[in-house]
Amino acid sequence: MTRYSRITGTGSYLPPRRVSNADLAAELATKGVETSDAWIVERTGIHARHFCAPGVNCSDLALEASRMALAAAGRTPSDIDLIIVATSTPDMVFPATACILQHKLGIAGCPAFDLQAVCSGFVYALSVADAMIRSGGARRALIVGSEVFSRILDFNDRTTCVLFGDGAGAVVLEASDQPGVLATELHADGSHVGILCVPGSVSGGQVLGDPLLKMDGQAVFKLAVGVLDKAARAVLAKAGKTEADIDWLIPHQANVRIMQSTARKLKVSMDKVVVTVGEHGNTSAASIPLALDAAVRSGRVERGDTLLLEGVGGGFTWGAVLLNL
Ligand code: ACO
Repeated sequence: MTRYSRITGTGSYLPPRRVSNADLAAELATKGVETSDAWIVERTGIHARHFCAPGVNCSDLALEASRMALAAAGRTPSDIDLIIVATSTPDMVFPATACILQHKLGIAGCPAFDLQAVCSGFVYALSVADAMIRSGGARRALIVGSEVFSRILDFNDRTTCVLFGDGAGAVVLEASDQPGVLATELHADGSHVGILCVPGSVSGGQVLGDPLLKMDGQAVFKLAVGVLDKAARAVLAKAGKTEADIDWLIPHQANVRIMQSTARKLKVSMDKVVVTVGEHGNTSAASIPLALDAAVRSGRVERGDTLLLEGVGGGFTWGAVLLNL
């Protein structure tokens, strides 16, 4: 019998501190940095984001989202035999946040590792877990996207600090004789490292270079729209499906204009696109599982629906996963 992987539960967590555009604009004004709710909404569709309290880390957000996903799947931590955390803002340089999460879940023994593909991280992690499950390397995986981007934002740079937020989303992915994940598509092109990066590193006990996010917004915008379209078409072709088979498009929540352009190119109506960037901001690797969980819990996305998840981010990395929920 063919072995597939299938999502059996979703969860998510946003830190309680909600920062509206007006709140952020007032905070930035104290540093002489000018922005406005109107500018942010018009250019990005973002109204608010959530920021963690000091001392709250990536693994803490991941733990909350994981508990919800496990409960939704009717599983306990001891049922899990693989943990992957997609993040660019880990608790420590090492060990992996996935190991810290494993310990916080009260389990030990199963493989646990982080996956770093920035905003494409969740799509990458889901693809890797699907391959491991299909090849018999795991039966019940916990896949998490978790980020504390507020820690790497330059609050003197209005072109980037208004875009991002903190949060986590998780899914339980289990072996199944029913598909599940229908096809996956992953890509990277390292020639674009410079358009979106945090160029600093730690060396000899000091931070070398700039440890805050840098972005060429227009270059990212153009690249993102093009590669998302190609990835979507490729993953549909691989699965023998067309745009008409998509019940819901759940793209990385970077910017509502990127999502509108992607949907237009793919000829998918915006009514079929899950959009949470307005309330979450861009939460990088957490954005897709956060959007997925919000859509499941609101009852819009239902079991049996065909979902197209698409991610794009620093690296440059991009990819898509087509699945039946
Ligand atoms: N508030 C007020 N004014 C601002 C702000 C701000 N927060 N940021 C920039 N401006 C000003 C600029 O200084 C510029 O002023 P000028 O004309 O006097 O020079 C003006 O607004 C226009 O700036 P642009 O950079 O041309 O604005 P643009 O329309 O390109 O929007 C944005 C910028 C939103 C970043 C856009 O390029 C974009 O959406 N890029 C995609 C990048 C993205 O979403 N990245 C997320 C991370 S990557 C990922 O997740 C894949």
